[in-house]
Amino acid sequence: MIAKASAPAKTILFGEHSVVYGEPAIAGAVNKRAYITIKPSESDATIFRAPDIGFEAELLTPYRKYILLKGKPGIIRYILESLYRVHDHTPIDITLNSNVPIGSGLGSSAAVTVAILAALYRYHNIRFNKQSLAHDAHMVEQAVQGVASPLDTLVSTYGGLVYLSRNKKIERFNVNFNVPFVVGYTTKHGNTGKMVKDVRNRRDRNPKIINPVIAAMGNLTNYAKQAILKRDFAKIGELMNINHGFLDVLGVNTLELSRMVYNAREAGAIGAKTTGAGGGGSIISLCPGRVEEVAQAIDRDDNILKIRFTRKGVSSRVYSD
Ligand code: MEV
Repeated sequence: MIAKASAPAKTILFGEHSVVYGEPAIAGAVNKRAYITIKPSESDATIFRAPDIGFEAELLTPYRKYILLKGKPGIIRYILESLYRVHDHTPIDITLNSNVPIGSGLGSSAAVTVAILAALYRYHNIRFNKQSLAHDAHMVEQAVQGVASPLDTLVSTYGGLVYLSRNKKIERFNVNFNVPFVVGYTTKHGNTGKMVKDVRNRRDRNPKIINPVIAAMGNLTNYAKQAILKRDFAKIGELMNINHGFLDVLGVNTLELSRMVYNAREAGAIGAKTTGAGGGGSIISLCPGRVEEVAQAIDRDDNILKIRFTRKGVSSRVYSD
């Protein structure tokens, strides 16, 4: 039997960091996906291969350990944690194919976690639905990262553009939001756990300054929700630019990120901001009619990715061989 599953990567449009303090956020699944295939192993070992990133390892699933065969470990802890929770430790072959660049800030870990869990559930014939899958994937992210909001795994499970409210309810936007974005990412990765901790320390040192900013970021996200519903792109762009300023206040922007943001705006983006945890990582720019110009302006020094939002969430099947 072969089980296959795929899940989309995501990008945060509004609300990174403030979401950690219970404020709303808006994120969307993008047209870049992680694909997992699981089949019985041809040997007595469990092997994980990710040919797109040149990674291969033998997995010791009962111990959450691995023997590196090729490449650099990155995503492996999410795979091991998922296997530890769901798999019966019989030898299997796992292949990850992905067109989500690692380190692009598009939440590759959530996409991989959702896809591996869905494939494992199919492989073992375990019943699941999107709600239980999103919950389990969030538990895996939390176990690996220590801290994680449910946003990434929710979006990778459900797909579409999602609003996470202050009381943690999710709403999917029922609008056509098929506009072009350009993501720019640096080769320097941010560490999400560290960035979240740094923001907390800054808030603890300056509560009267930072708490109102976090609350304002929540209000901004709610304005953005209205602007998205009205497809008011000028307003969405303006709010992205303000949000970038707030992220500066929180201390998560870097010279590289802000350089990309300003280059994108100068090349005609109507909005550009850091997306995700910051401290390295990526920016997102909204650039209808100016995609090539913005891509070129960012590409001078950094990597770019042209993306669109997609409604397609997780998908999974089994095939009998
Ligand atoms: C990271 O993609 C987004 C943060 O808000 C952390 C989280 O929500 O878990 C910085």
